[in-house]
Amino acid sequence: MQHSDQSGKQQSSQAPGSLAERAVAAGVAFTKDVAAARALRSPEGVEALRLSYLGRKGQVTALLEDLRTCSKEDRPAAGKAVNVLKQSIEREIEALKGEAGAWLVAAKLAATPLDIHLPVEPWVPQGSLHPVTLIRREILGEFRRMGFTVYDGPEIDYDFYNFSSLNMPADHPARDMQDTFYISEQEHLLLRTHTSNIQIHCLLNEKPPLRIVAPGRVFRVDSDPTHTPMFHQVEAFVIDRGITFAHMKGTIDAFMKAVFGSSMKTRLRPSFFPFVEPGAELDLQCVHCSGKGCRLCKQTGWLEVGGCGMIHPNVFEAVDYDSDAYTGFAFGFGIDRMAMLKYKLDDLRTLFEGSHDFLGHFPIFT
Ligand code: PHE
Repeated sequence: MQHSDQSGKQQSSQAPGSLAERAVAAGVAFTKDVAAARALRSPEGVEALRLSYLGRKGQVTALLEDLRTCSKEDRPAAGKAVNVLKQSIEREIEALKGEAGAWLVAAKLAATPLDIHLPVEPWVPQGSLHPVTLIRREILGEFRRMGFTVYDGPEIDYDFYNFSSLNMPADHPARDMQDTFYISEQEHLLLRTHTSNIQIHCLLNEKPPLRIVAPGRVFRVDSDPTHTPMFHQVEAFVIDRGITFAHMKGTIDAFMKAVFGSSMKTRLRPSFFPFVEPGAELDLQCVHCSGKGCRLCKQTGWLEVGGCGMIHPNVFEAVDYDSDAYTGFAFGFGIDRMAMLKYKLDDLRTLFEGSHDFLGHFPIFT
C-alpha cells in the first residue's frame, strides 16, 4: 500500500507549495490509496488508511494543524480546501468500512469447503395428495397389473351415452334413481350420472377384446352424509368371446383382495341394472367389524359398494356389436366410498370440504 504515517508526516512538514495545493495533493494520494485498499480487500487495510489520513499523526490532521500558522489572507481558501478534503475522506472511509463487511463474508465462504451432503432445508411443508387421488391411483394400479387399460370419457355427455344406449330409453323408471343436471334439454346434454357412459364411447371407438378401467366424476341430485351431488366412480369392463359371470366374480374378488388385503371377502347379490343381465349388487365384507356385524354395516356384516353384471345384449345392439359373438361383464363402484372404507372416514362430505386439518393426515407420496 502506498500510504504510511511517515509519508504523511513528511508531506505535512516538508512538502512545498501552499496549504491548498498540499490539500489537493493529499486528495490525489488518498484516491490511489483507496484503490490499493480495495484491491487488497483487507478490513485492517481500511483501518490503517483511516489512521494515516485522519489519525492523530495523519496527513489531514497535520494540514489542520498547519492552518494555525497560515497567513491571514491564505487562511480562508486553505481552510476550505482542507475541510472539503477531510469530509470527502471521511465519507470514503465510511463506504470502505461497509464494503469490508462483505469482504469478510466472502473470505469466510471461500475458506469453507462446500459440503454437498448438507440438507438444503430441514423440513419444508409440501402439502399432500387428496385421499381420493390416493385411492384412485391405487385402484388404477391394481387394474393395470391385471392387464386393464385406463380409458377416459366426457363428464358432460349426451343422453344417448348416459341413458338410452344403456338400455334406459326415455321414460324408463330406472332414470328416476339417477336424476341429474341437464345442460340443455333440446340437445339432450347432461352431466353424466355414472361412468357407464364410457362403455359406449369405448365400444364405438375400439374393437374387442377389451379390458378397460375408466375413472371419473359423476353427478346426481343427491346430498346427505353418504351422498354428494358430485362424486367419483370407477367402471371396469371386459369384452371378448366367451367371457362369463365367473370371470367377473374372480376379477372383482382379486381386485378387492389386492386393495383391502387377502382376507377381504366379496359377495354378489342379485339386483337390477338396465344395462346388465344378469345383474348384481357388489358387497364388501365390513371393514370395521370384519363381518361380525356393527353400526357401520347395520349389523349385516356387509357393505354395498357398487353394481355389476353381464353386459345386456341391447347395449351391444345399440352400438352395432354382434351380441351372439361377444359377451362381456361390467362393474362400477364409488371411489369416494372406497376411500371412506380404506381410511375409515365417517362422513363422505369431508372429502370435498378442503379442510387442511383433515387433508394433512394423508401421506405426501405413494
Ligand atoms: N353404473 C351403475 C351405477 O352407477 C353401476 C354399474 C356399473 C352397475 C356396471 C352394473 C354394471 O349405479
